[in-house]
Amino acid sequence: MARSLDSIERIGVVGAGTMGSGIAQVAAQSGYDVVMRDIEEEFVQNGFDSIESSLDRFVSKDKIAEDEAEATLDRIAGTTELSDLADCDVVIEAAVEDMDIKQDIFADLDEEIPDDVVLATNTSTLSITTIASVTDREESIVGLHFMNPVPVMKGVEVVVGEKTDDEVVEFAHALAEDLGKETWESDDKPGFVTNRILMPWLNEGIRAYDEGVASKEDIDKGMKLGTNVPMGPLELADHIGLDICLDASETLHEELGDRYKPAYLLKRKVDAGDLGKKTGKGFYEY
Ligand code: CAA
Repeated sequence: MARSLDSIERIGVVGAGTMGSGIAQVAAQSGYDVVMRDIEEEFVQNGFDSIESSLDRFVSKDKIAEDEAEATLDRIAGTTELSDLADCDVVIEAAVEDMDIKQDIFADLDEEIPDDVVLATNTSTLSITTIASVTDREESIVGLHFMNPVPVMKGVEVVVGEKTDDEVVEFAHALAEDLGKETWESDDKPGFVTNRILMPWLNEGIRAYDEGVASKEDIDKGMKLGTNVPMGPLELADHIGLDICLDASETLHEELGDRYKPAYLLKRKVDAGDLGKKTGKGFYEY
């Protein structure tokens, strides 16, 4: 059974977007061989580009040496084939936040990857238990919810599904710690700890702006200086991506009721295609 870190040499990552490439990077920086898979060559290449630019930032700040950055990149292989993850000792899925897509991926992983391998999901709001239900290894499926930007953020949320084995939960904590992170644990309830609390905070910031309580700058400044957080709600929503905030808020709204209703202005911005930093415009311009 691949439950001890000693038996882990190669980590598979499904998805090369912001989260997947960040997870691949920290795994490779921690000395693991990594196979990073996305559905198109272009997405895999984008993943490598963002890893390179993150490593460059660390090098320019003297946080890591140039040869360490090169060695990190050398440890990551890119692929578009899920079957290339077959010899991985653990797989972390970080594809889009869509239950049907995640279930399809997990059904395929269940076929391709040996039965004793732990399959983790980086889902930020969807149920681990529902994702796991399409596999024949529900006990080996666990949530490993990294924070954005993954290479910088210290925390990882370990999410325990209805059928997740205690041994797998312990393994998930140990793995995240080995990737240089600190962990906390959440039951498989909508939004877990972080997004259950963060999403209403972001939506309330957006509503306060929409209802004219203060300018966006003053809302962000007030929350930063008033509560000592690194980013105010509007800049943090832009950083996360307004589409991601809306998806997460809609899932919470569906599961937990009206107190999680997404702000109207959040929907309007997403409909307009202004998704935050990644599109150059959200509440602010970049
Ligand atoms: N790779 C490498 N280094 C990076 C980086 C990256 N991707 N992003 C930032 N950095 C480094 C910078 O180079 C800088 O290094 P120094 O301290 O050595 O100068 C440091 O991180 C700080 O960055 P900046 O100076 O550019 O800017 P900043 O001080 O504003 O920090 C931040 C940026 C780390 C993002 C900080 O603003 C922050 O912590 N913001 C809050 C982020 C947050 O809350 N994330 C969680 C979102 S919720 C989530 O992810 C869950 C979900 O499911 C939605």
